[in-house]
Amino acid sequence: MKKSTKSIRIQTRKTQYREHSTPLFLTSSFTFEDAEQGKALFEETEEGNIYSRFSNPNVTEFVDKVCMLEGAEDGIATGTGMAAVFASMAALLKSGDHLVACRALFGSAHQIITQILSKWGITHTYLDATATEAEWEAAIQPNAARPNAARPNTGTEPADRPAARMVYLETPSNPGLELVDLAMLGRLKEKYGFILNVDNCFATPILQTPIDFGADLSVHSATKFMDGQGRVLGGIVVGRADLIQPIRFFARHTGPSLSPFNAWILSKSLETLDLRMERHCSNALALAEALEKHPDVALVKYPFLESHPQYELAKAQMSAGGAIVTIELEGGFERVQAFFDALQIPTLSSNLGDSRTIVTNPNTTTHAKLKPDEKAALGITPGLIRISVGLEAIEDLIEDFEQAVSVSAEALKENV
Ligand SMILES: Cc1ncc(COP(=O)(O)O)c(C=O)c1O
Repeated sequence: MKKSTKSIRIQTRKTQYREHSTPLFLTSSFTFEDAEQGKALFEETEEGNIYSRFSNPNVTEFVDKVCMLEGAEDGIATGTGMAAVFASMAALLKSGDHLVACRALFGSAHQIITQILSKWGITHTYLDATATEAEWEAAIQPNAARPNAARPNTGTEPADRPAARMVYLETPSNPGLELVDLAMLGRLKEKYGFILNVDNCFATPILQTPIDFGADLSVHSATKFMDGQGRVLGGIVVGRADLIQPIRFFARHTGPSLSPFNAWILSKSLETLDLRMERHCSNALALAEALEKHPDVALVKYPFLESHPQYELAKAQMSAGGAIVTIELEGGFERVQAFFDALQIPTLSSNLGDSRTIVTNPNTTTHAKLKPDEKAALGITPGLIRISVGLEAIEDLIEDFEQAVSVSAEALKENV
């Protein structure tokens, strides 16, 4: 069966009520038929639900669907995307380990790496998304194995640090839409044996399956496109069963569980993920093409625009360009204000991946806490606008964005 059929048909076993739609198992615990069963479940000689911090039928249905979509052996769902990112690192890294990461990361992932893992003696090196294979290879090898000249001087780099235990990245990145070459990292992983951990939130498994390129883990903020309507928070890590096992142990005992209610919503949403992504992507491409022609837009970035510096790579590892378009408007924050004031349809919010189009100014919101040099490295300028393109009629979106670009450009000229 096709993945689209399976995302609709994977379902919890019918109860005695013969329901069509999966019921909501809003229960914190499950009962034992007798003392023997309780013992067997805890000894894991019998499979079954015990307590919703460990597992729950709604959560299992959601996990089964994402594993199917990503081509993963196993998975564990969490209450938020950040809990998934954190669990994937905290469960698999230990003091003295080294993490190599792409610099273009969601702000909270950057805070985990620089402010939390660092307290536990886990060091890191940051690389640009566009770093060459040789630069990635140099960063992955132990310091002792390479000449001084090849040592990246970013992140925390003790001279005696070991080879990378994990490589962590987002592709496409938030908000710069930079891509990392998954096939290249898959090759390096074969050579050096690190854990390749990919945040696949922007692409979703509909557009990109990192495991096919050699990734060991794929993590998601399910809050975004998997929900798709801005209702609930959720996260998930899927991948190699032997890596999911320690993450499951970590989650079972530290408790970042996904609520059954949120899992129920997310699993229902996965029934339409492929349809929604198709519309998100066609809308995003059409909007990007229209804005690229507008004389008052300084820059448009979208992975499936030929002008994107990594267009060929985008075509090689994604089946469509995704729902996020970034644009650059000249005139700084004042221009951004005028532009946002002129827009009629989009909502101003820091979220993304919604059926409603959302605009965000990363410099003053999602990435405001970064230092000026960190912002510069990520291309976060005052006039950068991230557009999460929704499912509205594309004619309406193009008309609204075009008029707001023109009105804001005029407003700025009048103020000069
Ligand atoms: C790429 C990416 N990863 C992870 C997260 C974190 O997810 P959550 O907000 O569900 O914790 C976000 C956004 O919030 C994101 O954009």
